[in-house]
Amino acid sequence: MTTLKQILGTELPLIQAPMAGIQGSAMAIAVSNAGGLGSLPCAMLSPDAMRSELAAIRAGTGKSYNVNFFCHTPPEPSAEREATWRAALAPYYAEFGIDAAGIPTGPGRNPFSAEVANLLAEFRPPVVSFHFGLPSEALLAQVRSWGSKVLASATTVEEAVWLEAHGADAVIAQGLEAGGHRGHFLSHDLTKQLGTFALLPQVVRAVKLPVIAAGGIADANGVAAAIALGAAGVQIGTAYMLTPEATTSAIHRAALKSEAARHTALTNLFTGRPARGIVNRVMRELGPIGSAAPEFPLATSGIAPLRAKAEAQGSGDFSPLWSGQNATGCREVSSAEVTQALAEGFPASL
Ligand SMILES: Cc1cc2nc3c(=O)[nH]c(=O)nc-3n(C[C@H](O)[C@H](O)[C@H](O)COP(=O)(O)O)c2cc1C
Repeated sequence: MTTLKQILGTELPLIQAPMAGIQGSAMAIAVSNAGGLGSLPCAMLSPDAMRSELAAIRAGTGKSYNVNFFCHTPPEPSAEREATWRAALAPYYAEFGIDAAGIPTGPGRNPFSAEVANLLAEFRPPVVSFHFGLPSEALLAQVRSWGSKVLASATTVEEAVWLEAHGADAVIAQGLEAGGHRGHFLSHDLTKQLGTFALLPQVVRAVKLPVIAAGGIADANGVAAAIALGAAGVQIGTAYMLTPEATTSAIHRAALKSEAARHTALTNLFTGRPARGIVNRVMRELGPIGSAAPEFPLATSGIAPLRAKAEAQGSGDFSPLWSGQNATGCREVSSAEVTQALAEGFPASL
């Protein structure tokens, strides 16, 4: 059987999780050069930014790397839902003196598309990973035609089986502990989602593909535990968030370093889709999951001016403070050092 390291083209079966908004090419280059698989998240990049980030990776490393995309179907904007959302946020607009009429509507995250695939064709990345399922068969065929290996997140056994049947080369089992957006795509029922230690062995049993464990892995012992449960490798995000290569804001860094990081929750308030972040004022006051937020990614624009105003005052009350449930692995050392420390958890045989 092809090993995960062969699929990834790396020395280590370790993927630095793509983290849109808090890292770019610098972290990807550092991790790839340290023997792991560095990732470039593209969900928040314009085509021009994507091209320059990909060029930077090509200039910065000769090693394998991963390029990551969301593949949601953009929803039809609904004036009614937008009005409900604005009404829920109205007291905060008033508090900060924001003119709600001046806030633009619009998307906050871009899905994989034909335009993006054509741009990516110039680079033929060794690995492409997807969150929220897979793109259309035609787009996936295009990605595969360059020889790129395909990874995608599964949050349930059913999703892992689906990904295997639809052309993934390996499956990322994303446990409920994971920071950032949940990758679910077959069911939006959050009660179906499992913690890493429950999900991982069940996925390993259900598919033949190599399984990559993600969610709550913060140190070498966590890596070893995931391998003991049958993972072929790991994907780790939160532990990289304080590195100098991360673009994590000062407010976000302070939250990750504080006791507040012990309390995270899934929330749809920042984008419209459940994602895990450190509990803050808006999550407490509106409830972390609310029906007022419009569909992903349309909630983003309504809350963005509140975030900007609060952050200008040094507050993360309206910021998405993404974090997994285990932030104890966050250290202010280089991404290469984080990679090397995590790699201690792999048995010599892997
Ligand atoms: C700040 C942040 C941003 C994230 N953004 C993305 C993303 O753009 N694409 C993606 O596939 N996963 C994203 N994730 C989820 C990761 O792929 C992964 O599932 C998660 O980091 C693993 O859990 P951990 O954070 O406990 O290590 C993000 C996670 C974090 C913490």
